[in-house]
Amino acid sequence: MNIGIDKIGFHTPHLYVDMNKLAVARDVEPEKFTIGIGQEKMALAPKTQDAVTLAANAAQLILDENDKEKIDLVIFGTESGIDHSKSAAVYIHRLLGINPYARSIELKQACYGATAGIQMAKGHIALNPESKVLVLGADIARYGLNTSGESTQGAGAVALVISKNPKLLVLEEESAYLTDDIMDFWRPVYSDTAFVDGKFSNEQYISFFNKVWEKYKEKTNLALKDFSAICFHLPYTKMGLKALRTILEEGTEEEQTRLKKHYQTSTLYNRIVGNIYTGSLYLSLLSLLEQNDDLKAGSRIGLYSYGSGAVGEFFSGNLQPDYKEYLYTDEHLEMFDRRKEVSVEEYEAIFIDTLPSDGSDVVLNHTDDPAAIYLAGIEDNKRIYRSGK
Ligand code: HMG
Repeated sequence: MNIGIDKIGFHTPHLYVDMNKLAVARDVEPEKFTIGIGQEKMALAPKTQDAVTLAANAAQLILDENDKEKIDLVIFGTESGIDHSKSAAVYIHRLLGINPYARSIELKQACYGATAGIQMAKGHIALNPESKVLVLGADIARYGLNTSGESTQGAGAVALVISKNPKLLVLEEESAYLTDDIMDFWRPVYSDTAFVDGKFSNEQYISFFNKVWEKYKEKTNLALKDFSAICFHLPYTKMGLKALRTILEEGTEEEQTRLKKHYQTSTLYNRIVGNIYTGSLYLSLLSLLEQNDDLKAGSRIGLYSYGSGAVGEFFSGNLQPDYKEYLYTDEHLEMFDRRKEVSVEEYEAIFIDTLPSDGSDVVLNHTDDPAAIYLAGIEDNKRIYRSGK
């Protein structure tokens, strides 16, 4: 049975910071951020957007009534969860009006959560071929003002419908995955910003990539020549390039040119959004699918997922006929166009103005937030979500 990605939706908040201006404010050369890190704009979440609303907005764009009826499993991958007990998926289930006879759960393993969700979804569809699974990956990446990770922040969500006979990408059976208990990036429960060993995290990202790539080739007998493109988890767009470079010489000059060209296309959206953790690899895939002008049906796309801590996986899929017709390219580009730039001073004020953590009530002013689904406030320790603008 062919199982894979049937639809992809994306949402990012309406605010962003220009990386050139952030560089000037931090007294570093702008090229460090725009070339060395490879980021142009960094998405910023207002208080009215959290992981739940970001994911709900991404999913609302793509789900029709048939999807809502057929979805019987909602899997929410996030490391920006809002509750230790209740899963973010249950909120999404109500906000989107999904069939009540569904399972709704949250998964966590840093940026790997959505990939784990997709692999679980594959198994679920294999056992229940008529059902569909909604997989969400939503996060707000926060390292802190004036930290070395600051230039690699971002915010956004992807929503993926996984089904049989998918319209976008059929996932291939074999996959290579790896776990190792390391401390490259983590966020203890008392902290709202991440801790990171930056250089070590870069090394581990590449080391995991090399290991799962070798394992994948061993399992499948495939080689670099068999790939039209490879998409990467992109904490910043230079990171995937560093990993890609370590295997490029396995291919001919023509193959190298093809992979480098498609790599650039796969980073276009991430360059103007930043790290969105769980959704990052799928934002890169979306960028490739929506912005390439030569990938045909049958093209094999490699996917490298990495979640610090750490779990890595390399898997692949084949593009489906007429996939371009089933994308939401115009809606995504309009969303990017509607965004508003904030100054570095405004960004800093928004960054430190967080929701109360002492249990007090709050009513949020949502008039400036154009998103259809937003957080209206907190009452009696319950987040109040509203839909419909
Ligand atoms: P840093 O110390 O600020 O930067 O940390 P740097 O000194 O390493 O410079 C960065 C690059 O800019 C270098 O390029 C410089 O040469 C270049 P490279 O040598 O690496 O190719 N550069 C310039 N280029 C052009 N013109 C200039 C210039 N100046 C310098 N004038 C770091 C950078 C990424 C470590 C930091 O931002 C950080 O800690 N970020 C967070 C951690 C991270 O993103 N790690 C990535 C791998 S781990 C991962 O992907 C998982 C994650 O998503 C979390 C999860 O799983 O949940 C993070």
